[in-house]
Amino acid sequence: MIPSPLEPPHDAPHGRILIVEDDAASGHVLRTLLRQVGYQVELVVDGASALRSLEGARPDLVLLDWMLPGMSGLEVCHLARQRWDALELPILMVTARTDPESVYAAFDAGANDYLTKPFRGAEIRARIAAQLRMRRLAEHHRRMEDHLREHDKLSTLGLLAGGVAHDINNPLAVIGAHAQLLLRRAPDEASAAGLREILEAVERCRRIVGDVLGFVRRRPRERGTVDVGAVLRATYALRERHLTTGGVRASLELPDGPLPVFGDAGQLQQVFLNLLINAEQALRDGGRTLRISAAETEEAVAVSFFNDGPPIRADALPHIWEPFFTTKPAEEGTGLGLAISRRIVQEHGGEIGVESTLEGTVFSLRLPMVTGQ
Ligand SMILES: Nc1ncnc2c1ncn2[C@@H]1O[C@H](COP(=O)(O)OP(=O)(O)OP(=O)(O)O)[C@@H](O)[C@H]1O
Ligand SMILES: [Mg+2]
Repeated sequence: MIPSPLEPPHDAPHGRILIVEDDAASGHVLRTLLRQVGYQVELVVDGASALRSLEGARPDLVLLDWMLPGMSGLEVCHLARQRWDALELPILMVTARTDPESVYAAFDAGANDYLTKPFRGAEIRARIAAQLRMRRLAEHHRRMEDHLREHDKLSTLGLLAGGVAHDINNPLAVIGAHAQLLLRRAPDEASAAGLREILEAVERCRRIVGDVLGFVRRRPRERGTVDVGAVLRATYALRERHLTTGGVRASLELPDGPLPVFGDAGQLQQVFLNLLINAEQALRDGGRTLRISAAETEEAVAVSFFNDGPPIRADALPHIWEPFFTTKPAEEGTGLGLAISRRIVQEHGGEIGVESTLEGTVFSLRLPMVTGQ
């Protein structure tokens, strides 16, 4: 679902605003004015701190004073524009200068709008609201474009996949069958080992073809009441030996009672296995903790997979849910795990998300719980 761009979500604050203002009195007035209507406000007093702040948790809008100690507001605006465009980061210049040249200079430096001191509270609020509305619209369009692009990719893929899978599965079956036969008559251990490797490779190809097909063609579902705890336990048991031999401290934390959801146990297991294997693979590059937990929260079953391996890079993060996005070598990843998982979770009426910091990465999902049993 793409949320409507015109209204901010009801429970969310209106947005985060960075005020850059060296004059303490003006800063205080602006901050109070904006906090009153529900904005989160950060106040800094010079350009260098403003740029640092932008690099961190980027605000939704900047109110930027022109006259600052050191770097001027105009320079800050100019530098910020080299990184973020006017829709990603609206900048409102605030100044006492009213001559046309100053106004032009501010717009030339990339300001979205221009406000003159002394402030009128109502005007500032209205101009900020207008910029934020525009920003939401742009964000909405960007998401629609992403959806369309993904949809496009998938329909082309759907057409191709059936044919390719057929063409690959047949020769694979021949290779597999002959390798099996030869393995039975293998003259020595070296030949047998080679043949076993061939069989493993065949198996892996079959899985990839199966994944691709499973993704583009929706499999018929077998639905019923499923205990998420039981599925997690089964999935964990599949990998536990693997995990602990690699020196990982793995744990599974479940409540005593059942966690019933309505869905397809096989598909849910596929999701959990994908998340578990991703966590395992991340731990090869550092870290050693893998913690899976599930609990009941507000009529939903919440499941999380945490590992303290290296975080997902910021430039990869927006793409990890895309089909075929992978950072792994070809023999290790096809980039379908998360795309499939997200689709399955959504088909179960749930949602899945990720947070990744230096402390680790956690994938969290929520599934609607079956209640009143
Ligand atoms: N727990 C994690 N920690 C760090 N990075 C992760 C984690 N899970 C996923 N990723 C990143 O997201 C990318 C996409 O994951 P996804 O499961 O979709 O594909 P994959 O694991 O690369 O391949 P496949 O699952 O198809 O074998 C991964 O390549 C990796 O960069
Ligand atoms: Mg994966």
